[in-house]
Amino acid sequence: MAPGWEKIKKGSDMYKVLMTDNIAKEALDVFVDYPDIDAVAVGTLREDELARILPEYAAVIVRSPTKLTKDLIDAGKALKFIGRAGVGVDNIDVEAASARGITVMNSPGGNTVSTAEHAIAMLMALARRIPQADRSVRAQRWERGQLKGVELNGKTLGVVGLGRVGREVVRRMLAFSMRVIAVDPFVAGETAEELGVRLVDMDTLLGESDFITIHVPLGSDTEALISDAELSRMRDGVFLVNCARGGVVDEAAVARALESGRLGGVALDVYQKEPPGAHPLLSHERSVFTPHLGAATKEAQVRVAVDVARNVADALSKGRIRDAVNAPKG
Ligand code: MLT
Repeated sequence: MAPGWEKIKKGSDMYKVLMTDNIAKEALDVFVDYPDIDAVAVGTLREDELARILPEYAAVIVRSPTKLTKDLIDAGKALKFIGRAGVGVDNIDVEAASARGITVMNSPGGNTVSTAEHAIAMLMALARRIPQADRSVRAQRWERGQLKGVELNGKTLGVVGLGRVGREVVRRMLAFSMRVIAVDPFVAGETAEELGVRLVDMDTLLGESDFITIHVPLGSDTEALISDAELSRMRDGVFLVNCARGGVVDEAAVARALESGRLGGVALDVYQKEPPGAHPLLSHERSVFTPHLGAATKEAQVRVAVDVARNVADALSKGRIRDAVNAPKG
């Protein structure tokens, strides 16, 4: 047992773990191997409900619907660990957690392939105008002439961010005979070469790509990474896909670029505000939208739930920390 960690009593000497947001049930099975942990799974709770029960728990695991604000984190008087079933921790006030000495852990690998596959599905939906064609047939129109698409074969794909998801996208799109170029200041030339990608600077990527797909987290250096200036440097008719984080792409600028014809189409899975409400972009015909579904597959949801449950269980029970995203005080 890690010294100094107080057990949260529940009749016997047990740590209590709360899992919210209807996490995949396989996560509960993980705790069978940890007799000193009592885990419960619930749906998404209202903020006041969560604040009321949180003081009992040593760890809480959330997906994206629960926003762990500073107030909630402060309400969790006994919290030692926060687990995020997924990658992005933008729904957790990590700074507030660090200040309270709480370690935040995520599950970075489990939804990589699902997110990559979703980005590719969006790219193909754009290229072949699948949602528009579907709407047309349902409306008993037969608009074969108006719904002509473009091939991916031989086109240039610009990948912004060669992290886990970006790399899986690259591997798959090379099989479509696309020429792939990428921007990533943290990746070495040899790594890119091994992947079959040419590393370029942002200006080259914007100027040479027929399709651009974004795979970077949202941070101060990536906020509005694609805005008016970047859009103005793209070729006419470029297709843009964002399945990473809303805010990396400036939606108002994208709407202007669709209207001017600079963008041939846009596919978004993530938005500056989620859900986006009645955003003017949504009425644009040359666009495809999904409600943050990148990681929403059966397989990915089980993987991220099991991974984060194991991370939290090992941290509580054995003092073994994995996939921490902060350096908590004290
Ligand atoms: C992630 O950050 O893991 C994905 O965007 C999915 C999600 O937010 O649930």
